[in-house]
Amino acid sequence: MNKVLVVYASRHGATRGIAQRIGDVLRSDGLEVEVAPADHAAGVGTADAVVVGSAVYMGSWLNDGIDFIKRNEVLLAELPLWLFSSGPLPGSSMDKVPSGDPLTDALGPEQGPGSGGRKKIAEITAATYPKDHRVFLGAFDPDDPPTATSERLVRMLPAVKKALPAGDFRDWDDIEAWAHEIATTLMSPAIPA
Ligand SMILES: Cc1cc2nc3c(=O)[nH]c(=O)nc-3n(C[C@H](O)[C@H](O)[C@H](O)COP(=O)(O)O)c2cc1C
Repeated sequence: MNKVLVVYASRHGATRGIAQRIGDVLRSDGLEVEVAPADHAAGVGTADAVVVGSAVYMGSWLNDGIDFIKRNEVLLAELPLWLFSSGPLPGSSMDKVPSGDPLTDALGPEQGPGSGGRKKIAEITAATYPKDHRVFLGAFDPDDPPTATSERLVRMLPAVKKALPAGDFRDWDDIEAWAHEIATTLMSPAIPA
């Protein structure tokens, strides 16, 4: 149980940075690690465990992240799997009153208006049984041009412009602690039945 594949879907690099840091920690804890973008990761290959993370935009994971999980669903269901979302920007006025549930704050409600992105996550979760889905604070640089037409249009909305705080809010201690937890789980001898 020592080869870990860390896959990420990122538009502007914040999620890539989180994936790379998770990879660094897993390596320093003695695991063999490959970090790859979701659109270039051919498959799960010979990995013994997989970590998949995506940036969240308007309540949804990026398609690359969802597609990677869907095309590897059968194998991932058999492997230890961890998911992470890179999303919330603290102080964003798009955050309504915090719900107490990080997934709801990043991806929206489980049901009703605005639940489309969350439902996709519920589907992949039901199919692959991840051990955990962690939400990490993200980063936003307004000077970094939009990479998708939808993002360009959304950023032009005055309400969104006001709502998105600029800055790098990634909490490296939180990210590293989670990566150490993953390493500990993978390196623990299996508990005999
Ligand atoms: C137009 C726009 C919409 C966003 N929508 C959400 C959202 O719905 N939920 C959330 O948690 N974060 C949202 N964010 C924050 C990003 O997900 C966060 O900045 C993330 O770390 C970016 O990752 P990347 O650099 O890997 O693309 C949004 C950011 C932008 C610019």
